[in-house]
Amino acid sequence: MATKDYLGWDQTLFRDQDVFEIDFVPDQLHHRDRQLRELAFHIRPALRGGRPLNAICKGLPGTGKTTCVKKLFADIEEATRTLMPVFVNCQVERTRAKVFAKVYEQLVGHAPQTNGVPQRKVLAAIARHMLDEQQVVIVCLDDINYLQDAETVNGVLYTLIRTHEEYPGTRMGVIATLSDVHRDLKAELDACVTSVFQPAEISFDPYTAGEMCAILKDRAVQGLYPGVLSAEMLDFVVTQTIAPWDLRVGLDLIKRSVLLAETAGRKEVCRADVCAAYEHSRYVHLACTVRTLSAAERRLLRHIAEMSRASAGLTSGEVFRSAKERMQLSYSSFFDRLRKLDEMRLIGVQHRNEGGRTRGIALRYERDLVVAACG
Ligand SMILES: Nc1ncnc2c1ncn2[C@@H]1O[C@H](COP(=O)(O)OP(=O)(O)OP(=O)(O)O)[C@@H](O)[C@H]1O
Ligand SMILES: [Mg+2]
Repeated sequence: MATKDYLGWDQTLFRDQDVFEIDFVPDQLHHRDRQLRELAFHIRPALRGGRPLNAICKGLPGTGKTTCVKKLFADIEEATRTLMPVFVNCQVERTRAKVFAKVYEQLVGHAPQTNGVPQRKVLAAIARHMLDEQQVVIVCLDDINYLQDAETVNGVLYTLIRTHEEYPGTRMGVIATLSDVHRDLKAELDACVTSVFQPAEISFDPYTAGEMCAILKDRAVQGLYPGVLSAEMLDFVVTQTIAPWDLRVGLDLIKRSVLLAETAGRKEVCRADVCAAYEHSRYVHLACTVRTLSAAERRLLRHIAEMSRASAGLTSGEVFRSAKERMQLSYSSFFDRLRKLDEMRLIGVQHRNEGGRTRGIALRYERDLVVAACG
C-alpha cells in the first residue's frame, strides 16, 4: 500500500472520542443529583475553612461512584483554592506508603523522595504544606477495599483523620468508595478509628433501564456527529446494555460499533455493527466486576465455572458440597456469596420447586472465560 490511507485517520464519525473512555467525566451527571448534593453537604464546612465531614459512597460496580467524586473534585478545583481535593485510586496505591506518597504528590506537585525516607517525614511534609498554604484537604480513597489488608485500611484512615492531633491546625476529611454493598466497613474498623471516622453512607442505587438509556443517549449526542447512531440503533444498544445491566457495556458498545462503521466507510451504524461489537463489549462487564470481588468470592465463582464443565444444570446443594471440600465455607457464607454473584450478574440463580433452599445455578458467561477472568 503506497499511502497510509488504510489507517483512515482523516475521516471520523466521532465528534469527541474521549466521551466513550472509561474515565471520562461528563459535564452533566444525570440521575446522580441526590448523591452529588449529599457529597457537597459533607464537604461544605471545608469551603469555609472547616473540617470536611467523612463519607462512604456505596453501590454496585458501574453505578457512578468514581465519576461522581471526580465531578465533585473538578468543580471544587474550579471554585476554590482553600479546599484541595486529592484522588487516590486504591487499586493502584495499595499500601500506606503509596497512599501518602500520592497525597504528597497531588498537594505539592511532584512525587516525594521515598528511598530511605521514613513515612513520618512524608506526613510531616504534607502537614507543613497544608499549614503553609492554609489548605483543607479532602482525600478520596477510591475502591478502598483494594488496600492491601485491614491493617492498611485502619492505618491509612487513622493517620488521615487524626493528622490534626500531631499537626494542630491541619484539617482533612475522607470520602471512601466501595462497590461491595453488603460489606459493613465501619464494623471492620478499630475503635480508635471509628471514634473519629464517623462517615455518612451515600447509596448509589443501580440505574433503571430508562436512566441508562438517557445517559447513553446523552453521550452519543456529545461524542458523535448527528445521524451516526439512529434512534433505532440506540434502542438496540440499550437492549444489549440491559442484559448485564452495566453502563460500561453500552459505552464500549457505542464506541466499537462506530469504529466498525467508520472502518467500513459508512456514515451510520447498522445492526450488524452493534452485533459484532457486542461480541467484545459484553465481556467488559465480566472483566470489570470480577476485579471487584474478594479472593474468596472469586474462588467460588471459579469453582462454579469449573463445575459447569461437567454438568450443565448445577444445583446450589451440589456446588456447596463440592466447594466445601476445597475451601472453608459455612452454609450461610456460601449463600451470601451466591447472592452477591447473582446481584452482580455473573451467575443466574433460580428457585427450584423442590422445597428447602435448593437453587439452580447458571453461569452468565462461557465457563473458560470466567475461569480466565478469575485468574
Ligand atoms: N450518571 C452518569 N452519567 C453519565 N455517565 C455515567 C453516570 N454514571 C456512570 N457513568 C459512566 O459509567 C461508567 C462507570 O461509572 P463509574 O466508573 O463512576 O462507576 P463506579 O460506581 O465507580 O464503578 P466501580 O465500583 O466498578 O468502580 C463510567 O464510564 C461513567 O462515565
Ligand atoms: Mg469506581
